Amino acid sequence: MRELVSSICKGVKVIPVVVIEDVADAVPLARCLVESGLPAVEFTLRTEAALDGIKAVAAEVKDCIIGVGSIRTPEHLKASIEAGGHFGVSPGTTETLRNALKECDWPFLPGTATISEMLTMQEAGFSEMKMFPASIVGGVGMLKAVAGPAADIRICPTGGVKPDNAEEYLAQKNCFAVGGTWIAPLADVNAKNWDVIAERAKAASLLGK
Ligand code: 3PG
Repeated sequence: MRELVSSICKGVKVIPVVVIEDVADAVPLARCLVESGLPAVEFTLRTEAALDGIKAVAAEVKDCIIGVGSIRTPEHLKASIEAGGHFGVSPGTTETLRNALKECDWPFLPGTATISEMLTMQEAGFSEMKMFPASIVGGVGMLKAVAGPAADIRICPTGGVKPDNAEEYLAQKNCFAVGGTWIAPLADVNAKNWDVIAERAKAASLLGK
């Protein structure tokens, strides 16, 4: 039985989406986010450093709930599980990826952008999914619209979510969490601006409460 991402994330409302270019940044970044009240983090597979960074966090930051994002292929899926990720996230979901997901019970938020994609993933056994890019595919209005015909689908909007609109997303009954890069953007990670990231994370940890 596939565990729900919301249970693994213990009800957190905000999941920072991060990019790591230097493996050495993964552990201090994860520690900074966990200690600032955001224990669940989506580490994207967008750089060479990503998988080694995830392995380091899995070994050294036991309180971090490790999400692996930007998963597009069965190979990404396998590598992410092997690296020690606790759950996966995809920007969208191809038939190939959907079939690979059916072969494992790893907790996962499949990426969706339309009601048909959401229903397709619900048929595949998922009740929680990512909506991406949220602000482009309809934002809060899309969540409200989907809540009518498919009230049992629970959504994590990502893409264009910011401090000034996160509360409105989180106020929707079908939105269990939001994701976004605003907490730890790449420039701040590269500059090791841990204090700045900690401040944003502390503020974000109060959202949706
Ligand atoms: C993602 O991968 O989910 C997005 O890059 C996050 O989008 P944002 O940069 O608008 O937060």
